[in-house]
Amino acid sequence: MQVDVFSKSLTTLAVDCYVVGVHENGELSDAGRALDIASGGALTRVLAQGDFAGKLGDAQLLHHVPKLRASRVLLVGQGARGSVTRKTWRKAMQHACAALLRTSAKSAALSLTRPGSRELDDYTCARSSAEIAQLGLYRINDLKTGKKPKPGALERLQIGPFRPKALAGARRGAAHGLAIATGAATMRDLANLPANVCTPTYLADRARQLADQYPSVSVRVLDEDEIRKEKMGCFLSVTRGSAEPPKFIVIEHGAARSKHKPVVLVGKGITFDTGGISLKDPPSMDEMKFDMSGAAAVLGALHVAAELKLPLHVVGLVAACENMPGSRATKPGDIVTSAAGLTVEILNTDAEGRLVLSDALHYARRFEPAAVVDVATLTGAIVVALGSHQAAVLSNDDALAAELVACGRNADDRLWQMPLAEEYGEQLKSNFADFANVAGRDGGALTAAAFLGKFTTGMSWAHLDIAGVAYLSGANKASTGRPLATLADFLIGRSRR
Ligand code: BES
Ligand code: MN
Ligand code: ZN
Repeated sequence: MQVDVFSKSLTTLAVDCYVVGVHENGELSDAGRALDIASGGALTRVLAQGDFAGKLGDAQLLHHVPKLRASRVLLVGQGARGSVTRKTWRKAMQHACAALLRTSAKSAALSLTRPGSRELDDYTCARSSAEIAQLGLYRINDLKTGKKPKPGALERLQIGPFRPKALAGARRGAAHGLAIATGAATMRDLANLPANVCTPTYLADRARQLADQYPSVSVRVLDEDEIRKEKMGCFLSVTRGSAEPPKFIVIEHGAARSKHKPVVLVGKGITFDTGGISLKDPPSMDEMKFDMSGAAAVLGALHVAAELKLPLHVVGLVAACENMPGSRATKPGDIVTSAAGLTVEILNTDAEGRLVLSDALHYARRFEPAAVVDVATLTGAIVVALGSHQAAVLSNDDALAAELVACGRNADDRLWQMPLAEEYGEQLKSNFADFANVAGRDGGALTAAAFLGKFTTGMSWAHLDIAGVAYLSGANKASTGRPLATLADFLIGRSRR
């Protein structure tokens, strides 16, 4: 889909459909009033029937409105006029796009009532609009054999009006929004695939595809022998029980800019987490196919960086393997040596994410990064603590944590900072090794982060625990694409420094 911005009056645009807001009690928005006047009061006559009250989330399609350059008008409920917030605006936008994409309109011009500019600036308005519209076209990549539902027909969406002075920023926003939606689709497709399809090898192939598609992207994949050469004993301990070969993926965008210190993104790529010998309970174990969501987010973020040709060196590191029980699997009490040289007593083989990440975080050091951000469905404890609305950020650099929290706010993909503190690390004491990989139930997400912290000293590092936000369970089971938008905003921001 193409998304453009406009500054003229809606009525001058020749499109298949106009989309305008209606407020409570059938009160027209400014754009709606302009259409009403141009159509000789046709909208007022429709609203006077009283069937459409402008409730948030409602939408009503009208045909053959007289004297307009579009054959359709889509009315979108925006609730009370004085109470349009960023949140209600987004919701109206989502409903507008859903309704619009059910029509066979190929082009549309959209103008909703916006909240105050301090709540939603022109760039962000255009970016969110493009992102929401493009994501509306996303269809889950299921493996059903029946006929697929018809894809949306919309080819060109115009959004506005923006002040002429704001057009350049809005245009940039629209381009960014489309790229973010593309990256989110990459992430969702990977995360939704079953583990027998989306193996470590599959993830590596997807990374190579990005390198084929974009000249700014290069990929190197380490196989098991090369992983051994890197002495990644923690990573290897996780893959031991699996017949599926592990892969360590190094994907770079903008490596030619090697004068500048890169941003390194690290993704947990457990393509299936059975728990290993510390086997998980059967209920909803299938959801552990989503345990590579961090890796998918990293590949999605690289996709955005490449699509936008961001002037920034970005390195993505993905430690990908399965966590399986088996006769060769790591056993509780086994002690392994990490790439950093520290020994770890594996008391619970289900705490595998921190093991693969610790070796990946150590690998990040060689890039002398400006910042390292790891993304992982790391703990059930964070689901208990924050539920499914906000992901956790823990960091040894409060400025980096604040930056990421702000990115989450910009992207409407919220994060909440949780403590990273030495006390939590002390709980990882082992009688037999430098430390254990688990520290009991209390503060489980914080002790997990403290474990990672042992491998990141001296680097500006943040950890995103996305176990609660990365996917939905139940009837709507699917990847959410979170926190791709936050990562994209972070990279965009870093590229402008
Ligand atoms: N992949 C899980 C974390 C998880 C749990 C993600 C629920 C999404 C939903 C992780 O590998 C894990 O098993 N963590 C354990 C750690 C424990 C053994 C210390 C957990 O959270 O139960
Ligand atoms: Mn686990
Ligand atoms: Zn896991």
